[in-house]
Amino acid sequence: MNKTLIGSAAAIGLAFAGAAFAQSSMPAPTYAADGKMIQPKDYRTWVYLTTGFDMAYAEGAANQTHSFDNVFVNRQAYDGFLKTGVWPDKTVMVLEVRGTGGENPLNKKGEFQGEVRGMEVHVKDASKGGWAFYAFGKDNAPAAALPRTAACYTCHQDHGAVDTTFVQFYPTLRGKMPAGARE
Ligand code: HEC
Repeated sequence: MNKTLIGSAAAIGLAFAGAAFAQSSMPAPTYAADGKMIQPKDYRTWVYLTTGFDMAYAEGAANQTHSFDNVFVNRQAYDGFLKTGVWPDKTVMVLEVRGTGGENPLNKKGEFQGEVRGMEVHVKDASKGGWAFYAFGKDNAPAAALPRTAACYTCHQDHGAVDTTFVQFYPTLRGKMPAGARE
């Protein structure tokens, strides 16, 4: 390899390192010019918290079709929570809803996960007045925050173990709850 090649290889390496750094230090929630939240794209590489199966919140709710919900949180927020027991500003929690995978000749019993049915996001952002919920549809278009009167806020406020989040349902975190948190 001649000098120019080595030089440019090094420059490319630096450019990659720079891009990786910019990504990891980037604040997680991003918004469009009109203030709507842009749907997180890379949440599947974040920290996995749990999978709920057929969870329903209404008394006597019928299970018409099975569903899974997978919860992820951005890495910076997870690390912050482990250290302090507090969700830091810019925490983004994603709840991805999936149906079942359907028929598969190998599978004689039980269910596996199918396609994404929808996504709900819970974001702590002081610049937006604190925690807010967003629901993204199949078109993946940016979403406005759900109104404060939505039932989401009441249930999370009244029953979430830590700061309006359901840490009591997240196996790697429920042992790390601050003293006095709801069980
Ligand atoms: C009656 C209670 C209840 C209501 C109403 C409710 N949730 Fe939740 N939510 C939960 C529970 C319980 C979990 C934990 C899910 C699990 O363990 O898989 C949860 C988890 C979540 C999470 C994962 C992050 C977190 O905060 O723990 C998001 C995002 C979320 N809900 C969004 C919503 C949105 C959006 C609405 C309103 C459209 C809503 N929820 C309404 C009970 C509720």
